[in-house]
Amino acid sequence: ANSKTGQLIALHEQAAKLYHHILVNTEMGQPALDYLHNRGLTDATIETYQLGFAPSQRLLKPFFDQRQADYQLLRQSGLFIENQQGELRDRFTARVMFPLRNASGHVAAFSGRVLQKQEDQPKYLNSPETALFTKSRLLFNFDLARPAIREAGEVTLFEGYMDVISAAQAGVLNGIASMGTSLTTEQIYAIERTTDHLNICYDGDTPGQRATQRAIGLLREHSHLALSVIQLPEGQDPDEYRRAHGDEGFRQVMQSAKETPIRFQLRYLRRDRALETDSERLAYLNDAMPLLAQVKEPVALDLYLNQLATEFHLDKDALVAQLKQVRQQAA
Ligand code: CTP
Ligand code: MN
Ligand code: MN
Ligand code: MN
Ligand code: MN
Repeated sequence: ANSKTGQLIALHEQAAKLYHHILVNTEMGQPALDYLHNRGLTDATIETYQLGFAPSQRLLKPFFDQRQADYQLLRQSGLFIENQQGELRDRFTARVMFPLRNASGHVAAFSGRVLQKQEDQPKYLNSPETALFTKSRLLFNFDLARPAIREAGEVTLFEGYMDVISAAQAGVLNGIASMGTSLTTEQIYAIERTTDHLNICYDGDTPGQRATQRAIGLLREHSHLALSVIQLPEGQDPDEYRRAHGDEGFRQVMQSAKETPIRFQLRYLRRDRALETDSERLAYLNDAMPLLAQVKEPVALDLYLNQLATEFHLDKDALVAQLKQVRQQAA
């Protein structure tokens, strides 16, 4: 393709190849390769995801200059930072490089991770928005995952690239990630064209739980996807869980930790609540009612009501009566 887009993609694919080469074949890349191996990634995984390394010295600029690449094209690629004089230098330095492929499998952008935490550096640095890359549209791994999503009949949404990659190494191939934790409606529509069931598997920490709560609301509002939530214990993220429990343990928890969104939300509502006084307990039950009012399956509803009645020593009929009131008010 000779179009602008085609040229930008060609540039990105050359850059990905070069970053990958630096990682796997050079002395410069050794610390980054050690880092990825220490994080439990195999060479096969590194190959599949074409992971790379951007060294601290300049790399892309001299490489593309040598090939007489068009200055305007380089400028528009997002791979460089431009100074006052219009000079370009590599945007990504001293970072492990994750190529971000679009839905057609072409490299459209990069995310680069620092090797160690640094105060003055963001952990992940992404390409800026370009003609190829709209952050709110891209779903990491969607191209590779699509056959597995079709086969499994469901997709699993993770928070980070490392979670998707780690899951894939464990054999869970239907994983994708939004860019950071903010899922968008464009991403939801893209997912909905491929499957009708989505598992939310965000990090088990507080930000992850908050993002899960937000995603449930957004997905309910903008899609007909059937939803499940997979909450990992002890604040772990999926990659950390796999590292602690192995591939087999990971595959198991992906099944066994699966729960309904309501179950998650009822638990989320309880966080930071002692529920030691009647007023606290009533406040919790009041907040829980609108959630229960959304449950359409009679059997599921009965299950939740029985559990609440037992736990709070309530007459189930009283819960049902209150639920009726809530439903009438909502109607
Ligand atoms: N993220 C980002 N910029 C940051 C931090 C996070 O864009 N400074 C995005 C990345 O897409 C990242 C996701 O948010 O994958 C989840 O963040 P976090 O849980 O902090 O990162 P992990 O995926 O766990 O990354 P790692 O395991 O490499 O620390
Ligand atoms: Mn290779
Ligand atoms: Mn996180
Ligand atoms: Mn994480
Ligand atoms: Mn992580």
